[in-house]
Amino acid sequence: MMTKELRRRNVKISRNAPSLLGVKPEKQKSSMTKYVITAAAVTVVMLIFAYFRYQMFLRERVKTPLYAPTMLAKDSTLPNKEPGRFWGSYRPHTYFGMRTRSPSSPVMGLMWLNQQTRQMPPPIRHWCDQGDGLPKYGWLKHDGVKFGTQEIVDTDFTLTTDFIKRPGGNHGGDWTARISAQPHQNVPGTIKLVSLMFYVALDGQGLLEPIISKTGNRINSINGYSEELGNFKLSFPKSSSNTTYRHSYLATQASGLDKLKDSLMNGIRVEAWDRSRQTPYYVLGGRQVPRDGVVNFLTYQVTAELPFEMEVTFESGSFVDRPEKLTGEVFDALLQQHSLNFDEKFEDKFQLKSKGFSESQIDFAKAALSNMVGSVGYFYGPSLVQSVHNAEPVRYWNAALYTGVPSRSFFPRGFLWDEGFHNLLISKWDAEISKDILSHWLDLMNTEGWIPREQILGVEARARVPDEFVVQKNENANPPTLILPLQRLIKDMLHSNKESDKKFLSAVFPRLKAWFQWYNTTQVGSKPFTYRWKGRDSTGNRELNPKTLTSGLDDYPRASHPTDDEYHIDLRCWMALASGLIADIAESLGLDGREYKATHQLLTNNGLLDQLHWSDKKQQYSDYGLHTDKVRLERPKPPPNLQPGQRPPQMNMDKIRMVLAEPQKGFVNAFGYVSLFPLLLKIVEPSSPKLMRILSDMRSEKHIWTDYGLRSLGQSTVMYNRYNTEHDPPYWRGAIWINMNYLALSALDYYKSSPGPYKQQAEDLYTELRNNLINNIYKQYQQTGYIWENYNDKTGEGKGCHPFTGWSALVTLIMAEIYE
Ligand SMILES: *[C@@H]1O[C@H](CO)[C@@H](O)[C@H](O)[C@H]1NC(C)=O
Ligand SMILES: *[C@@H]1O[C@H](CO)[C@@H](O)[C@H](O)[C@H]1NC(C)=O
Repeated sequence: MMTKELRRRNVKISRNAPSLLGVKPEKQKSSMTKYVITAAAVTVVMLIFAYFRYQMFLRERVKTPLYAPTMLAKDSTLPNKEPGRFWGSYRPHTYFGMRTRSPSSPVMGLMWLNQQTRQMPPPIRHWCDQGDGLPKYGWLKHDGVKFGTQEIVDTDFTLTTDFIKRPGGNHGGDWTARISAQPHQNVPGTIKLVSLMFYVALDGQGLLEPIISKTGNRINSINGYSEELGNFKLSFPKSSSNTTYRHSYLATQASGLDKLKDSLMNGIRVEAWDRSRQTPYYVLGGRQVPRDGVVNFLTYQVTAELPFEMEVTFESGSFVDRPEKLTGEVFDALLQQHSLNFDEKFEDKFQLKSKGFSESQIDFAKAALSNMVGSVGYFYGPSLVQSVHNAEPVRYWNAALYTGVPSRSFFPRGFLWDEGFHNLLISKWDAEISKDILSHWLDLMNTEGWIPREQILGVEARARVPDEFVVQKNENANPPTLILPLQRLIKDMLHSNKESDKKFLSAVFPRLKAWFQWYNTTQVGSKPFTYRWKGRDSTGNRELNPKTLTSGLDDYPRASHPTDDEYHIDLRCWMALASGLIADIAESLGLDGREYKATHQLLTNNGLLDQLHWSDKKQQYSDYGLHTDKVRLERPKPPPNLQPGQRPPQMNMDKIRMVLAEPQKGFVNAFGYVSLFPLLLKIVEPSSPKLMRILSDMRSEKHIWTDYGLRSLGQSTVMYNRYNTEHDPPYWRGAIWINMNYLALSALDYYKSSPGPYKQQAEDLYTELRNNLINNIYKQYQQTGYIWENYNDKTGEGKGCHPFTGWSALVTLIMAEIYE
């Protein structure tokens, strides 16, 4: 074969030979040159083309979806596939709002105003806002699917918003909402006048047509149409009050869903229909667009003396054999039924009665769960993302996200690492909701295996985020906490033969692998099997300790001088957890998971862990890096040769960090949540003497023990409670956070039931810590009306934003002692 090939070539050469040696050498030469030049030119063009193609490929990568089947079919949330969860209170940023799980759903919601106000313009409540200063609000009961009951306490009256859904037809069925308002005190001779305003707004598609009463002020109903809802009718059948009330409405055009309140304010006018009053009334001014103009925002207003209530019914056009209207007594009876079912299911799942909790404590736990489930939102739109290959941020693909939110007032959108904790609770209440949420998140993965950590989808979400936090960078990680609920959900699936379970596992497997590979290649340290949170700023001089936002623990102190050589214990533990789960799934599916198994064994090997992360000197698990504790924030000194009368420019400048001692490579001197990670994720062996050491340090008040839960950073640590810049107060430097305390209890529960010498110690700590947490979170809720973002380690008081019924709602699982 070889020779044949050679011969053929020889023949070719010899055939060409005469002309090469050629008759017309000149011409031959020039055509050769031409050929070479052409070839070179073509090559250059091709190279340039290839280069640009490659550059384009690099730029596109960040916004290219992972090449693997998606978890969810494209239409999986639509009413023909999932009618039960189509409608919902999926607008957690509003006090009360409804929408569907379709991309450009019409939205509906409540605004209200106290007619007694003397403020101009009158304060109108709409989006949850701490500035409104409401004494309390939140869901008391909400099952995530069929109904919800919410109480909203305003300064001198209380609103109750109840809704019930009713299946029927082909478009997700009907629902009715009832809003009632009760004055706090019925002082004879005083009246309380309040306006409730219920609106519907279109998101770019559909039609709205109000049916106005003969008197010309009352909207009796609204006929509407949209792609996914077909024909529908919204009516306002009943608004009862013992005293006169007044109706008005607004029909106008809003420029966007984020501008509804502005549009409404523009349509308000001041009227005096009752001359005895000192202040005028605020009423909506009717139709604001010409007869032939387009109305995309309609609001019904009823103004009445308290107490009163109104109902809103949504009826789907395709629901033809409706038994009776879902209003009045029919509504009452159904609400009571749902409420009883909720109570039964709650006791069945969490068993708080049998654990001896009081009625009031159980109501608190129900509220915590209901707010977690009832704040689940549905968002749609593109993230803004950027990689090193993009000069400017680019749009991610238009994506849907069904997700819990940390806080309705402050963080009403999806956060990657919060969501893992949220679903520890949600999955215990309704595993189907959790699987749906986790699937939405995993489908956000790009071709690199990256998931943007903060999801700001749609104009309403975007309106609440300062510009500097909008763009998500693809170098940045966030703890892969989705592993936590997945582990629990999957536990029951691993040995199941159900088709749906196998399907879920098969879909989740390639996504988890891609996700793992992204961390295992981009977030590694310079030593083998070490991991590093990328994205710390090593060049600035403002921060006392450069933040590690990606770790989720923001300002928790790490190496003072970020370098490529540092490595982080918490990320290593997350990786151990993730590799273990993937290995288990592989085994269950009969696929090859050996590499994951090997990685898991390596990452959980206590000998290796100790070599890399155990500080003998401090007797604790630690990060490693270039570090010094001797740093201080100082105002820059004025220059020495200042002219007389000249103002030193630096005096107006921010303080900067002074480094008072040369940083050294070694273990980072800090004790807090990060040092606990090998315990938190159950990686320390139950027999390890290191476990004893961690347990005693946990109980030490000098470190992290308090009467209200474990504080994030030990009082013995230099950085404890320190500002990170002049303007940046401590966040994870002392405060008590409930997600980490939940993990601690879960770990203690594991160590107290595993054979070993420290069983008893773990058990004692467990009991005490659990009581401390429950007592304090409950007490703060009673006193302030809210569950909080975190708690003060000195006083137990709620801190940060509120309501925060994301991971702080894990208190329900703590009461129920559910850790698996
Ligand atoms: C009307 O007044 C009566 C008697 O004062 C009271 O029982 C009833 O609840 C009131 N109705 C409403 C709708 O507030
Ligand atoms: C993770 O990365 C290390 C180092 O490159 C490699 O040895 C290991 O096999 C990887 N693990 C998996 C599961 O890919």
